[in-house]
Amino acid sequence: MSDENIPNHVAIIMDGNGRWAKQRKLPRTAGHREGVKATQEIIKASGEAGVKYLTLFAFSSENWNRPKSEVSALMDLFMRSLKNEVNNLAENGVRLKFLGDTKAFSKKLFQQIQMSEEMTSDNDKLYLNIAVNYGGKWDILEATKKLIQAVQDGKLSVSDIKDTDLDNKLATQDMPAPDLFIRTGGEQRLSNFLLWQLAYAELYFCEALWPDFSPSELNKAFKSFATRQRRFGKTQEQIEE
Ligand code: IPE
Ligand code: IPE
Ligand code: MG
Repeated sequence: MSDENIPNHVAIIMDGNGRWAKQRKLPRTAGHREGVKATQEIIKASGEAGVKYLTLFAFSSENWNRPKSEVSALMDLFMRSLKNEVNNLAENGVRLKFLGDTKAFSKKLFQQIQMSEEMTSDNDKLYLNIAVNYGGKWDILEATKKLIQAVQDGKLSVSDIKDTDLDNKLATQDMPAPDLFIRTGGEQRLSNFLLWQLAYAELYFCEALWPDFSPSELNKAFKSFATRQRRFGKTQEQIEE
């Protein structure tokens, strides 16, 4: 596939770990562990394919409502995966950034998150965003509060506010919007992921459960993306001109 057909920014809802485990009569946490392996492979494959920005939804602001035991197993798994992987990511030119309200996590996890961001802050081969305790509504609300503050401080007037001003206050500030959105696990919904940022993304839903989402499944998504004509409101003729 030629480079121009590879999406610059890919955003993924990594869904289906629980069902993967259930099919095998394993506890849901076994599915999450297997999901981490798929995540590692997809990060590597995305970088190799020429993706520049990869945003992965790992834990939503609504996922706190799961059974306590699953939430704490997920927190342990984040901590361990981050500790194990950060050196490898750093050596491979990956810049890590966490999107979401990370202050809600334990002090230890919060510190690990900050350290991982700092350790990789000079890298620029692949910008890897992990959305944790993230919600699209939260993101827009926080950005709105910042805009209101700027107005109150006299730095911005209400009549001058443009959509790019809000862009620049979101967790994804300075990044281009996602070109391709992928959701594994068969569900066709956004589940409060990047609501503002996905305004013009191409949507791709697949049945594969996240632990089964291999680089060849990713390639299928890229192939589908390559067939899409992105019109951004214009006509087909205008685009083909
Ligand atoms: C996605 O898999 C991982 C997280 C939300 C943390 P799920 O755990 O939602 O898996 P299913 O949807 O129950 O199969
Ligand atoms: C979305 O998956 C969140 C993540 C993958 C992190 P969910 O499994 O939580 O979504 P719903 O509840 O089925 O919409
Ligand atoms: Mg799910």
